[in-house]
Amino acid sequence: MKLLGIETSCDETAAAVVQDGREILSNIISSQVDIHARYGGIVPEVASRQHLVTTIPIIEEAMAQTCWSDLDGIAVTIGPGLAGSLLVGVNIAKAIALAHGLPLLGINHLEGHIYANWLEGRTPDFPCICLIVSGGHTDLLVMRGHGDYLALGRTRDDAAGEAFDKVARILGLGYPGGPAIEQAALSGDSTLHRLPRAWLRGSDAFSFSGLKTAVLRLVEGKGGLGAADIAASFQEAVVDVLVTKTVEAAKRLGAKQILLGGGVVANRLLRQSMAQRSPLPVLCPSPTLCTDNAAMIACCGYFHLKAGKISGWDLDIAPNLRLP
Ligand code: KG4
Ligand code: ZN
Repeated sequence: MKLLGIETSCDETAAAVVQDGREILSNIISSQVDIHARYGGIVPEVASRQHLVTTIPIIEEAMAQTCWSDLDGIAVTIGPGLAGSLLVGVNIAKAIALAHGLPLLGINHLEGHIYANWLEGRTPDFPCICLIVSGGHTDLLVMRGHGDYLALGRTRDDAAGEAFDKVARILGLGYPGGPAIEQAALSGDSTLHRLPRAWLRGSDAFSFSGLKTAVLRLVEGKGGLGAADIAASFQEAVVDVLVTKTVEAAKRLGAKQILLGGGVVANRLLRQSMAQRSPLPVLCPSPTLCTDNAAMIACCGYFHLKAGKISGWDLDIAPNLRLP
């Protein structure tokens, strides 16, 4: 089965064709980063108008080697995300599905991030612990089977990616913050200053706003530290909390594997630390499949289609959608 995936939840316009939920036939992404970088963050109206311009050409590119008659479904992100951006993708997906008589599959973006682990030929083992860390989310879940989730904890304030973006701005490292902090940290010394960690013991929830404030205080007081040293200490603090709490939950609940997903999983220190400190196998998508893409949406759509979870023509967007 071949599915076309469409993703327009935030500032990437993406389309992909995936076969049987695992083989990527095409995966096209058009980033708006340069447009939003001028403003230091995403401007929602600019994002939706850019999707309006870019989505059809990106779909045409993704479909260059595939006949429309060979498709078995259209999967599209319905949320969480920016309302105006989601509307563009969902509307286009409906029009294509209607024109070609194909099933329409509305997909939760967060579930898509988890399903990126099925791409590249792997088959994760249930039950597993999933950590989704992106610009808007830090969610820890148990996945007991396809589409069967139990929420353990989420962030009480900033998402991990949001903290990376805000701290990068404080340090004058630019936008998007995650890759900028990772790059700066390479030449920094994380041992010069130990930043606080919010453990929230006895719960699987997270908190990163105190860490962000601690960075702000440190920058104001300077303390002889450069941006690279602070970036290194900050990155280490975020990774320490994410890894410790995920591994602890996985052991406590007898999980078979740990699955990672979301843009922050592109971070090398997070990938390495999780693999080193977990007694269980750790699966993470390759870095380009961690950040927003449509292959993960098409992959997730395949499992929805197999389970008969087909959306109606009244499919709506859900900007505040959660998982489960
Ligand atoms: O999943 P994603 O592409 O979009 C959302 O669904 O939000 O995640 C974007 C987030 C941003 O906050 C970005 O700064 C962060 O992922 N990110 C990283 C890295 N690459 C992207 N954070 C840390 N290290 C990275 N290498
Ligand atoms: Zn995302």
